[in-house]
Amino acid sequence: MEVFETKQPLTVRINELKDKSLNIGLVPTMGALHQGHLSLISSAFEENDYVVVSIFVNPTQFNNAEDLEKYPRTLERDLALLEDFSDKIIVFAPSADDIYDSNIQSENQKFDGLENEMEGANRPGHFDGVGTIVGKLFEIVQPNRAYFGEKDFQQLQIIRKMVEKKKFDLTIIGCPIYREENGLAMSSRNERLSQKAKNDATLIYQTLLQAKDFFDHKEIPFVKEYVENQFANHPDFVLEYFEIADEDSLQPANKKEIGKKYRGFIVAHIENVRLIDNMAFN
Ligand code: PAJ
Repeated sequence: MEVFETKQPLTVRINELKDKSLNIGLVPTMGALHQGHLSLISSAFEENDYVVVSIFVNPTQFNNAEDLEKYPRTLERDLALLEDFSDKIIVFAPSADDIYDSNIQSENQKFDGLENEMEGANRPGHFDGVGTIVGKLFEIVQPNRAYFGEKDFQQLQIIRKMVEKKKFDLTIIGCPIYREENGLAMSSRNERLSQKAKNDATLIYQTLLQAKDFFDHKEIPFVKEYVENQFANHPDFVLEYFEIADEDSLQPANKKEIGKKYRGFIVAHIENVRLIDNMAFN
């Protein structure tokens, strides 16, 4: 395993690999690595010679100072996990000043309206921050392929749109959601939950499963009301939003249209931790 904390020597190393026509996969992360991240790295190794894993808690994508401050930072443990995984991993763990050239700000990003729905509406500036940092990583690492989880489905679609608009010469690969045994989507933020809350959080997955089932034969308002009631009836959860949206436009829908693919998107809070999940409905 190789570890780089600044972009300049990483660029030298990347150019060496490129000169040898080796393929590079990129897995961007904010660290506190778990099985979900590792599943992306496994997929990347199936198709590439080297995998660059970036570990950087990107300040510009946090719209909430407390969330940024409380975000788990476990670099030593992350490096130990990656060390065991493969010697062809290149870790890039820069400081904010290094990757932002001392100008820690996001650029205004336009993704044909994808940025205005759901996470975009609920976390102002979030996708400006994501687009800015991922664009920088693409420029530095010049990967052949980059891997993103469907867990953050809107992020995945926005990155696809960015690649198309900015004509980055790489392929985006979407990877399935990796879950705990009780269905809770793995997340770095889960580390902040008590065991009881982790157990209770099966509600998110179970509700999505039932909503998917209803979606098959009921109208959308019925499904939404079902989900809202599930959370209204639970003393420890606060539902931030549940939407059923078209996979491509991410526009929330109130009526099913033939030929479109829909997903249920949910954000719920428990013990002040924000949990995000989604599921394909058809
Ligand atoms: P982070 O939350 O660390 O996630 C890194 C990548 O792992 C993302 O593509 C995310 O969708 C994926 N991922 C997280 N949990 C997963 C799970 N349970 N199953 C499958 N994939 C999962 O997303 C970010 O970081 C940041 O926004 C980033 C893209 C790194 C930009 O800063």
